[in-house]
Amino acid sequence: MKILLTGGAGYIGSHANKLLSSRGHETVVADNLGRGHREAVRWGRLAQVDLLDEATLDKLFEAEKFDAVMHFAALIFVGESVKHPGRYYRNNVQGSLNLLRAMRKYGVGRIIFSSTAAVYGTPETSPLPEDHTLGPINPYGWSKLMIEQTIRDFCSAYGMKAVIFRYFNAAGADPERETGEKHDPENHLIPLVLKAVRNPARSLKIFGSDYDTPDGTCVRDYIHVCDLAASHLLGVESLMEPGGEGTARVYNVGNGEGFSVREVIEATAKVTGKKPRVEQAPRRSGDAARLVASSEKLKRELGWRPEYPELVKIIEHAWAWEQTLPVD
Ligand code: UFG
Repeated sequence: MKILLTGGAGYIGSHANKLLSSRGHETVVADNLGRGHREAVRWGRLAQVDLLDEATLDKLFEAEKFDAVMHFAALIFVGESVKHPGRYYRNNVQGSLNLLRAMRKYGVGRIIFSSTAAVYGTPETSPLPEDHTLGPINPYGWSKLMIEQTIRDFCSAYGMKAVIFRYFNAAGADPERETGEKHDPENHLIPLVLKAVRNPARSLKIFGSDYDTPDGTCVRDYIHVCDLAASHLLGVESLMEPGGEGTARVYNVGNGEGFSVREVIEATAKVTGKKPRVEQAPRRSGDAARLVASSEKLKRELGWRPEYPELVKIIEHAWAWEQTLPVD
């Protein structure tokens, strides 16, 4: 298959690119390199394209005939989205609309979309099934939910087929250390704990210790980035099967087990043999207390099984990758 990966120079996209390439698929990465990294595109080809630039996007679709699109490109930080909502709606929603328009124009009918646990808002049950009430509590989550709906509407109007993955907390890195997490600035918990372990001048701020959770800190479901990538391979294979035109299937991707911020810090200390300096800080706006996935549907329908479900293994891989980066 020939697959377009928007955002393929980013964290999750680069792991999917490696996996797809290793399975003999031809990949083309479309990335504006705003937050992605040229050196992360180690497989397939790179086209420097911003999804907000419709003319360049059209040229890409004119030049290549894609069997499917995996749409990873997005701004992804909850806190930033609360401060700069316009940036998130423009980049994420308008960019996706442009992509769907180009897919329709050039007859590409299969899409896999990177959605998020943030579409659920405040959970009423745990673990969360896909049919739980939706109600984002931050603009990032809203931008992803709006795109989900746009994809559903494009599917029913134009006979396209989609798989929507709602990621929980992507973590870890390629065990061969060929790619990994590198956000600038970094906002995610595990790399920030690892950076604080490496650099004693840094400390780790715990955002909120008064949540309604066993130790008062937020609980998240950490999912190995390679297991996320594996779900995409299964997803695109299922889209190649006949039938299903006009439908968008939704799957959660998580391990079904929640860990608090303090538990992540303890697990990191076990892996690295060192404890970071920790500071209590106020809650970060837009954070839900607890987000844990039920991925039963993904297991049942696509036969997905996580290869690295243990938090310690996830942190070990993240630690091995972190040590390939300069101390900062
Ligand atoms: N946290 C800290 N200190 C930090 C960084 C994070 O205490 O320095 C806490 C956060 O408050 C949160 C938890 O660690 O409770 C995890 O935070 P991350 O920033 O690593 O991840 P988020 O849960 O905010 O967001 C991630 C993805 C989103 C996705 C969301 C869904 O980045 O794309 O998971 O759960 F929407």
